[in-house]
Amino acid sequence: MGCLILLLAQCTNDVKLRQHQTMKFLTLCVSAVLLDAALAWAPLSSLPSRTAKRTAATSPLAMASVAEEVDYANAERYLSEHPNNNVPPHIAALVGRGLHTKPDHPIGIIRAKIQEYFASLPDDYKIFDAEDPIVTTKQCFDDLRIDPDHPGRSPSDTYYICDETLLRTHTSAHQSMHLRDGYEAFLCAGDVYRRDEIDSSHYPAFHQLEGVKLFDQEEMDSASHLKGEEWVKSPECQAIADDLKNVLEGLMDHLFGETEKKWSEDYFPFTEPSLELEIKYQGEWLEVLGCGVIHEEVLSMADRAERRGWAFGLGLERLAMILFEIPDIRLFWTDDERFHSQFKEGQIIKFEPYSKYPPVFKDIAFWLPDDFVENDFFEMARGVAGDLVEKIDLIDEFTNPKTNRSSKCYRITYRSMDRSLTNDEIDELQDNLRDQSADLGLEVR
Ligand code: PHE
Repeated sequence: MGCLILLLAQCTNDVKLRQHQTMKFLTLCVSAVLLDAALAWAPLSSLPSRTAKRTAATSPLAMASVAEEVDYANAERYLSEHPNNNVPPHIAALVGRGLHTKPDHPIGIIRAKIQEYFASLPDDYKIFDAEDPIVTTKQCFDDLRIDPDHPGRSPSDTYYICDETLLRTHTSAHQSMHLRDGYEAFLCAGDVYRRDEIDSSHYPAFHQLEGVKLFDQEEMDSASHLKGEEWVKSPECQAIADDLKNVLEGLMDHLFGETEKKWSEDYFPFTEPSLELEIKYQGEWLEVLGCGVIHEEVLSMADRAERRGWAFGLGLERLAMILFEIPDIRLFWTDDERFHSQFKEGQIIKFEPYSKYPPVFKDIAFWLPDDFVENDFFEMARGVAGDLVEKIDLIDEFTNPKTNRSSKCYRITYRSMDRSLTNDEIDELQDNLRDQSADLGLEVR
């Protein structure tokens, strides 16, 4: 609860919030504190989590307008004294940039193009793009049948604000909330956060767009009582999967022109069957999205037990990198005008690299403690050198047969996207990295 009290204190001090907004926001914070207190004392499964939050507003639309007034760019929201808060300042600083809502940014351009396609379809898709990036473990995992011991929930993969709240790891975290609020077809785009490896296509913050559609109850009537295998084998489930594939193939053609596509089976706890779509781009198969028929338990937990439908989630950076030929994922976050001046609303153009500055390579080797978490090391490197870290590769590892101790050697590629780096500054960063490695229990060799 500590972090939410801190949040409460911060929002009262926040000069950016006008007074009437502050009052509404306070109500939201107080109910969030109540929710947090409730979560601390009751088993998760017994909690109607949103009902507690809803004390702030009685209708879903009023709820949305309160949420929009929260200043997501206030980094203090994501940092707390809670012992299990693992959000470093460099991640907190990324939240609330709203790249997906900027009409002239490649992420915003792709999102608009996807929305344009859905607007051409007969169903009326409600658009969401301003949900709070802080969600509860219930919204992000439990409501989606993600097991308590699923690796994606662990603090080595996920940024926790406190034990029950975190930075959403996927936009699926909002599915259940909107379903419960009665929406039947919607798209929801936002920034998501995952602790991960570091290279040109992985960044701890990225953007997803989620789509959900429910089918008319009459069409499903004879099948909506079916469960498990029986449901999955029914013609109704098949019809939903076929519709999903048609809609998404149409989306790919809208984005890429006629392109080769490949469907394969996948697994997500919240859809059954689950599928992934790959497209052929410049001779290579690239995974662009995950999707499936929404699991009946997800629907019943969202009070929509009688309905059936599909859901998909796609990564906007992945699509934008392909379509605009943007070679490095860090570029989406740059403030450099040479990047931004190239893009205009509604236009998909080939990105012209303004420069390619030389990389500097530095190796670091250390003996590992027993509880070594690779993502902690990656994160620490980003904390020390920020976006100057282009890539970290494991280049050697071995275990000493006598002592049974293991060692790893990583090669760090430093490169700026907008200037040449000096040897002195890299040496200084590398020295810092060696010092901070010791704090992680690594014994630098
Ligand atoms: N949330 C999944 C992911 O992040 C994608 C997905 C969304 C899969 C909806 C199925 C249905 O990978």
